[in-house]
Amino acid sequence: MQVIICDSKTEAVTLTSAVIAHQLRIKPNSVLGLATGRTMEGLYARLAAMHQNEGLDFSLAVTFNLDEYVGLPPTHKNSYRYYMNHHLFSRVNIDLRNTHLPDGMADDPEAEGRRYDSLIEDVGGIDLQLLSIGESGHIGFNEPLSAMFSRTRVKALTPKTVEQNAPLFETPEEMPRFAITMGVGTILEAEQCIMLVTGANKASIIARAVEGPVTSMISASALQLHPACTVIVDAEAASALEQQEYYRWIFEHDPQWERFR
Ligand code: GLP
Repeated sequence: MQVIICDSKTEAVTLTSAVIAHQLRIKPNSVLGLATGRTMEGLYARLAAMHQNEGLDFSLAVTFNLDEYVGLPPTHKNSYRYYMNHHLFSRVNIDLRNTHLPDGMADDPEAEGRRYDSLIEDVGGIDLQLLSIGESGHIGFNEPLSAMFSRTRVKALTPKTVEQNAPLFETPEEMPRFAITMGVGTILEAEQCIMLVTGANKASIIARAVEGPVTSMISASALQLHPACTVIVDAEAASALEQQEYYRWIFEHDPQWERFR
């Protein structure tokens, strides 16, 4: 794992967008794993601007989102399909047929999970998986005690996650209590993982995920096991990390980051 500390949220978003753009340039038909949430909004705005101004090409890209709420149709403003169409897909030249999210309306959500995993397998796996972290420590919707080897399946959301995301709904009661999410095991199979974390409210959980023990109580800590995972944080989110100097030194000296410095 590598941790990159940026001075500001804008800088963290810019760096993350540069990594994604680089991936698309070296492999235009990349399979991207995508995430939702407030953290990603600025990133998708920036990728849309890069498409507009620099011709960043999504025409051959294939995407798989991490998760979807159970019971929300794609037309619901809080569904992650709606979110993705609104924030990214309608603003770039991606072929919508190449964009995938779990179907939250599936009659058999468990079978839907298995279908989703095999779809990912069929395209040869995910090249670059984008992630953020929920205050419960989740990646996707892998709430505490999600198995390290878990596959795409239905998870019940914790009260903390409901508290965090319910304000995004018109009425808090409207927020579903279940979601279909890629499993921790599914996520760990991606070739590369990039986790973008910003804001003071994430400082304590990201410190536990990065510097604490690997534990299924904090699904994000499983990323310590991934051979190519980079955590990009702004100064606020980095504030509880103990080894900040070390992370800065590595970033300054590691040749793999030269083009991004
Ligand atoms: C949701 C998503 C997560 C995401 C989290 C962060 O819960 N399922 O994948 O990491 O939101 O949300 P935010 O960026 O709004 O803090």
